[in-house]
Amino acid sequence: MTKSTFRDKLKNTDVAVTFRDTILIPGWSEIEPREIDIRTRASKRYKINVPFISSPMDMVTESEMAIALARQGGLGVLHRNCSIEEQVEMARKVKRAEALIIKDVVIIAPQQSIAYAMELMQKHNISGLPVVDREKLIGILTGRDVRFADTNLHVQDLMTRKVITAPEGMSIEEAKETMHKHRIEKLPIVNGQGHLKGLITIKDILSRGRFPNAARDKNGQLLCAAATSPFDLERAKELDKYADILVIDVAHFHNANVFTATKKIMEQVSADVIVGNIGTYKAAEDALAKLNKVAGFRVGIGSGSICITSEFTKAGAPTLYATAQVADAVRDLGADVPIIADGGITNGGDVAVALAAGASAVMIGNLFARCKEAPGTLIAIGGRYYKQYRGMGSPSAMAKRFSLDRYGGSAKGLPEGVEGWVPYKGETSSVVQELSAALQAAMGYSGAANVSQLWKKGKLALLTPSGVAEAAPHDILLPGEAGERV
Ligand code: XMP
Repeated sequence: MTKSTFRDKLKNTDVAVTFRDTILIPGWSEIEPREIDIRTRASKRYKINVPFISSPMDMVTESEMAIALARQGGLGVLHRNCSIEEQVEMARKVKRAEALIIKDVVIIAPQQSIAYAMELMQKHNISGLPVVDREKLIGILTGRDVRFADTNLHVQDLMTRKVITAPEGMSIEEAKETMHKHRIEKLPIVNGQGHLKGLITIKDILSRGRFPNAARDKNGQLLCAAATSPFDLERAKELDKYADILVIDVAHFHNANVFTATKKIMEQVSADVIVGNIGTYKAAEDALAKLNKVAGFRVGIGSGSICITSEFTKAGAPTLYATAQVADAVRDLGADVPIIADGGITNGGDVAVALAAGASAVMIGNLFARCKEAPGTLIAIGGRYYKQYRGMGSPSAMAKRFSLDRYGGSAKGLPEGVEGWVPYKGETSSVVQELSAALQAAMGYSGAANVSQLWKKGKLALLTPSGVAEAAPHDILLPGEAGERV
């Protein structure tokens, strides 16, 4: 192979633009920001109501964040820096958090001890257990029945035998009426043979009213996504029992072995499979040509706030550049595959720019790591609160070993992430509201009434370095420590 010259290498080079280099050019507008529709798709089959997805990172997304974010209309991707059992349990929790009808009911047998019943209630955070004997519902045991009971007794000694039940197919309105009439909080559903088929709870009905914008599946359960290594077929298959979406979680997806392994996963799961990360037109083109079940692209390499990949390796594809590249490929090939812009989002304006470049949604680590529902430890430094945040390729995350294959610690022998602290922001719901308001305001400037209009109408311009400086506050001393704006 003849070497190409340095001049050849630089000929027609792309400008790898980042969020900070660009600005959204205002256009003619006929809508008010409040009226702007920011609903979108997370993957081919799954809709979300706000375009925010939390990263599969161990300081960002466990079940608590996934539940909180789905309730606000977004989506959490459960991290995989844990055992298969732990991750599956997280997915199960998300799916059980709310449902119109719980299908996966936690039950107990009549011969079990009260001590065991109490343990089950505590473990699953539930207040009642249908008692089932050879598939038949024969009673119900609630928290009230066991509160002061002798724990050596058995379930059959304390359960209520006369259970009010509903037939299959009962509407939620009818269920509500039945529960009100009998002053009960749980309504088991049974078929003609008396077999337990599901459970309706008052808690779920109330919660549905409290979170009208939640992202749900067709059964009314919160949407759930989970990350897997391409080389962990067993994990993918186990997660597939609960997760609606699987995210192939690898730092460089455009790789022959990764493609082969992903294909195997795609053949064996029913969930939508999002692949990534990729950063170029060619990677998207190859994935669409070689894998026929791509349900989404996760794009951007090296832009994350905790990434040192590009610094260390000088390889990367900034999220905005990657989004534009992949959007071009998807459009040129006539594919219908949503794009998730991942890494480097600092505010709602960045989200608007990512969407204008062709993304359907953004993936965020840093801003969600700041929330109460993120798993990181909360600490006080100098009178302010911070939460722990770290890259999945950081030394301490890699020490948990499971992330080794994503950032290849053993193979490449270098960390690709850092760890530190991010300012505490309180509830996920307030971060979602802040991002949504800024995104709607930005879309208002573009005159886009919804995400697909933003794809067409959103015009970007490049900023000069002085434009970048001018876009931030200047010539003023900000309160707090000189100029700190986190
Ligand atoms: P933000 O900017 O929201 O980005 O913090 C989160 C995204 O960063 C990626 N990620 C990493 N990238 N080394 C990397 O090069 C790492 O250790 C690392 N950990 C996470 C990931 O795509 C995430 O969604």
